[in-house]
Amino acid sequence: MPTLGVNIDHIATVREARKGKEPDPVIAAMMAEQGGADGIVVHLREDRRHIQDRDLHILRETIQSKLDLEMAATEEMVKIALAVRPEMVTLVPEKRLELTTEGGLNLPLLRNDLKKIIPRLTEAGICVSVFIEPSYVQIKEARALKANTIEIHTGHYANNSGKIQKNALKQIVNAARVATRLGLAVNAGHGLNYFNVRSIALIPNINELNIGHSIVARATLVGMERAVREMKSQIV
Ligand code: PXP
Repeated sequence: MPTLGVNIDHIATVREARKGKEPDPVIAAMMAEQGGADGIVVHLREDRRHIQDRDLHILRETIQSKLDLEMAATEEMVKIALAVRPEMVTLVPEKRLELTTEGGLNLPLLRNDLKKIIPRLTEAGICVSVFIEPSYVQIKEARALKANTIEIHTGHYANNSGKIQKNALKQIVNAARVATRLGLAVNAGHGLNYFNVRSIALIPNINELNIGHSIVARATLVGMERAVREMKSQIV
């Protein structure tokens, strides 16, 4: 069975709604680890819409499991990764106007940049994962670029149902098999929730699932009763 990387970006989204101090993703990371998270994932975006540089530095000092830094393949981010030294960097595409990461990297198109960036990270002892669609072209290029790991984008599976979802699942199963045969480790994530995760978790050869929004969404709800009770006790 795969391990679970918990993405805590949206704890920071709630904090940034008021530009204040709470909720602190550093505390969320500790609590996620207590709940069994095998790793903590954060996406430091160019526009710093949720996770801030401060979060990344404190998480590096405080988390007990492992840190996976999602980032765009830019010089700014490479410098930050080399300074912070997460156990893993997951390279993702990034667009300023997107609500969330919309698709996988087009590796052949980015070949010239990634040929320089990936070795700088791996030579520093950082495991490099590339976030891609479950496509043979992308997997082959990940191998050629000497990435250690691929993360298969599960969004198409997660956002569909019926036949389309079944076909998307088949593509993910095949991609995991092919990538493993080529010597790549395989992670998967995006859009996974309490209802659709099981079929993905059962795929052989997947090392880790990275899940964020649905866990943070559920955390806000399962904690609501207690949070209100505690506020009430301050008032009454
Ligand atoms: N994996 C990658 C590469 C992502 O960009 C994201 C979203 O930040 C996730 C996994 C987690 O997706 P979700 O928040 O939908 O669980």
